[in-house]
Amino acid sequence: MSTSNHEKGTGHVDNHTVRESDSVEESDPVIEDVQAVVLVGGQGTRLRPLTLSAPKPMLPTAGLPFLTHLLSRIRAAGIRDVVLSTSYKAEVFSEYYGDGSKLGLNLRYVTEDEPLGTGGGIRNVLDDLTAGTIVVFNGDVLGGTDVRDVIETHREAGADVTIHLVRVSDPRAFGCVPTDDDGRVTAFLEKTQDPPTDQINAGTYVFTREIIETIPFGVPVSVEREVFPRLLAEGKHVHAHVDHAYWRDMGTPEDFVRGSADLVRGIAPSPALGDRHGESLVHEGAGVAPGALLIGGTVVGRGAEVGPRARLDGAVVFDGAVIEAGAVVERSIIGFGARIGPRALIRDTVVGDGADIGARCELLRGARVWPGIQIPDNGVRFSTDV
Ligand code: GTP
Repeated sequence: MSTSNHEKGTGHVDNHTVRESDSVEESDPVIEDVQAVVLVGGQGTRLRPLTLSAPKPMLPTAGLPFLTHLLSRIRAAGIRDVVLSTSYKAEVFSEYYGDGSKLGLNLRYVTEDEPLGTGGGIRNVLDDLTAGTIVVFNGDVLGGTDVRDVIETHREAGADVTIHLVRVSDPRAFGCVPTDDDGRVTAFLEKTQDPPTDQINAGTYVFTREIIETIPFGVPVSVEREVFPRLLAEGKHVHAHVDHAYWRDMGTPEDFVRGSADLVRGIAPSPALGDRHGESLVHEGAGVAPGALLIGGTVVGRGAEVGPRARLDGAVVFDGAVIEAGAVVERSIIGFGARIGPRALIRDTVVGDGADIGARCELLRGARVWPGIQIPDNGVRFSTDV
């Protein structure tokens, strides 16, 4: 491969620094009497080993911590007061965002000593909230829905709680949520091979304050498995806001890679990125050699190096990683400071921080390399040629 996207500059976003403050638009309208809670306390086990060093919402996606994309969407909806419900690696959030002013937000933190689950986490922050309407977000969802529309649905319906439901092409991988003709939720169903609806829980909820007060305090509770089914059983008005906007739960490596690529290419909207989209995104201080090919929404982090003739397709390369000459990286995440040796093939794989993959190694189909592990040249192969 003698030419590259990078060299030709065909539509990729080059050498810009994505700054937190870019997302602040003073003209954004403000919604009164609404505050937001973002649940970010999970351990992110499905994204290990990356989540051993950073909580899932802080992993870089399209060059920013994932949470920055969500916070910028919350700000764009006119919400200014946000509480982060933290537990696992809580200090990472406050060290990075501080009081939130760089994002134009008033950001506060409430930390659970023991994880309280999604419902317990919501109840635990109630004393820090004053608004009558509280919008709760799962901290790992990449979404395109205008949050104002969900709040409006809630207010028009006069509901106790409104759940954002998204229609997906294959609902079998999710629990599904049927509704009646008036838009009320009728049930929460477990995963099944034969789902009666294509509507699934998108992980954004609008609560009236009184409903949060009914969640038991200080004990682990799941909002999806316990709170919502109980509210239905009690005859509370649980409403649905249904759409088929962009939506992706970033909880697995496959989804993380796809979501990051969708942000880079502009398929997934993010007010934090504006309209800087292309086939790849190379951060300031990264080096890309002539003849390297970056496609498929690849992102190359700060200080990372990509060698000549390397081919990166849908790759997420964290800061300081090195991809040597002729290596191929497809739909994979390369952790901070990791090295991929010359002519290695990395496909559908997660390489942990600081790992060192020798020349001509092949890592495929869901392989996960733990941080700091060294695999010698030719150390893992799927083919028998020498
Ligand atoms: P996995 O371990 O891979 O399932 O990821 P996870 O721990 O993030 O769990 P899950 O994806 O089900 O969590 C959905 C959202 O709720 C995520 O944004 C989590 O950060 C958050 N969350 C999960 N458990 C807790 C908890 O105990 N407390 C708080 N505050 N948030 C939580």
